[in-house]
This record gives sequence, C-alpha cells and structure tokens, in this order.
Amino acid sequence: MKRIGVFTSGGDAPGMNAAIRAVVRTGTAHGLEVIGIRRGYAGMIEGDFVPLGPRDVANTLQRGGTILLTARSAEFKTPEGRAKAAENLRRAGLDGLVCIGGDGSYRGALKLLEEHHIPVVGAPGTIDNDLYGTDFTIGFDTAVNTALDAIDRIRDTAASHERVFFIEVMGRHAGFIALEVGIAGGAEVIVLPEDPLPASVCAEVISQSSAKGKRSSIVVVAEGGYEGGAEALARDVKACSGIEARVTVLGHIQRGGSPTAIDRVLASRLGAGCVDALLSGASGVAVGEVDGEIRLTPFREAVERRKDINRKKYELAKVLAL
Ligand code: F6P
Repeated sequence: MKRIGVFTSGGDAPGMNAAIRAVVRTGTAHGLEVIGIRRGYAGMIEGDFVPLGPRDVANTLQRGGTILLTARSAEFKTPEGRAKAAENLRRAGLDGLVCIGGDGSYRGALKLLEEHHIPVVGAPGTIDNDLYGTDFTIGFDTAVNTALDAIDRIRDTAASHERVFFIEVMGRHAGFIALEVGIAGGAEVIVLPEDPLPASVCAEVISQSSAKGKRSSIVVVAEGGYEGGAEALARDVKACSGIEARVTVLGHIQRGGSPTAIDRVLASRLGAGCVDALLSGASGVAVGEVDGEIRLTPFREAVERRKDINRKKYELAKVLAL
C-alpha cells in the first residue's frame, strides 16, 4: 500500500479534523502518501483531490467542522455516480480509503467496496452516537457539552421565571444526546425515541413535579422523540393539561465548535486505528473504541445493528428527577 485517501461525509462533527490529522500523520509515519478528498462522495465524483502532508494539518486539532468539507451526495446513490467515483480513485492511484462519517457514509463505503473492490475502512464521525461497534462516536461529547451549556443557561431563566421549558436536542432517530444532557442538566423529563412518551404522561410528570414543590421544569426532547419535535409536544401538553411552556430548539449550534479533549483523543486514536487497519489488510470495517480498546466491526453490522441507549442511565434519570 502506497497511497491512501481520506474524506469526511454527512453531517460535520467536532473532532473530524483531529481524525484527518491522525490519518495524515500516522500514514506519513508509515511511509504512505495521503490524499484528501474534498466534499465527501461529491468530491470523489468530481475528482476534487488534494495531497495532504503533516504540515497541511497543523493547527486543525482544535478546530470544529471539517477542513475537507462535507456533503450529502445524491449522485453517489446511483451506480453511475459510484462508477465515476471509483474511476477517479483508480486514476489517482489510491490503494485504500478512510471514510470519516455516520451510517450513510458507511453505507456508501460498503457499496464502493462491493461494487468496485476498493479497500475502505471507517471512523465514526457523528454527533448522534448512533453507530454500533463503538462506545462513543467522534463529536458526541462536544455536542453534549454544547447542549448542556445552553440548558444550564435556560435553567437560570426557567428558575427565575418559574417556568416550564421544552428543549429540543439533535440525535436524528437516537436519544443518546438527550439522555446524556438530560442527566447532566437535571431534566425533570427526558423524551427519547427509544421510549416514546405520550403528551399526557409528560404533562402528568410536570404536574407531579410542581406538586412536589418544583417551581420550574426542564423537559429535554430528542428530535426523534416526538412527532413534530418539542414544539408539537409543548402544544399537545398544553392542550391536555393547560400547562404553559417555552420551547427552545438548539439545532445546529450542537454541531460546531472546538472539540473537547475527549473527542480530540478519541478522533486521534480512531484516525490512527484506520491507517493501522488498512495496513494490516483489513477492509469493509468500522474502527471503534469499546471499553477503551480499538475494535473493528464489519460495516454491515455497524449500520444494521441498533445501538441501544443505556437503560440503567435512563432509569437513574427518572429517580434523580424526584
Ligand atoms: O447526523 C447529525 C445531525 O445533526 C442529526 O442530529 C440531525 O438530525 C441531522 O444531522 C441534521 O441534518 P442537516 O444538517 O442536513 O439538517
């Protein structure tokens, strides 16, 4: 193996740059040439490639977003698009690829491998933490801390005005961010896609909190936890109980920003782990960290198996909301 490509794909996540840097520097240390592919699969189809040396990734460790840019490519979903991408990869002499992204990115990588036999490994880059085969994904810890900072601020206002707030956090179809910030932010209610809660039950818990002497409440809602999100839940709670609330949707603020130390270290380990995996002849695998150890999981398993939330943490959150 002489030359490898690296790209980021799907939603950006804090720590992606730390992973790119680790791929470039570990690859160089092993005598490999590293080529950056810009805009993920879209750039692969356009042949938007740039050589990356150790100095090209200087001062990127602490930066959010991705220096390689990212995109969601509709053309890559077609066999013709993938054939174009594969042709460009061959022309550039790439012997292997490192894909940094979420489940959609892994699915694309699997197609490249199956249809065009291009060796590819992946590192989990998504704030959602919804990938099987790793305890945590790159960007999750930073997103949790960003959301938590916002929740703490809203808590001040909720307490001062004796109000109920519904705060919606990201996570797509998974409730990892919501559960973590719900516990860390002391939420009275956490609404997760893994345990959907009817508005009437949510209203009941808020009323009980108030009966127990709580003068304000925070309800953390995962974006996939209620049809229509936090706005719809607040409306339905009001309709069935008369409870008035304010709603804050945190949105894309959770995706940016400087990665936490945890994300930088995780990204560095997984980026290096991807290069090691390629050099050892592995392909079609996602590189993750499980119980502190690097673990390889076949892409198919990583995208098809659902990683569940920690049910014990969820039960703890309910007890602590007493
Ligand atoms: O996968 C990361 C994520 O931020 C999800 O939490 C969210 O559902 C989605 O991406 C938003 O995507 P977009 O940035 O394309 O609106």
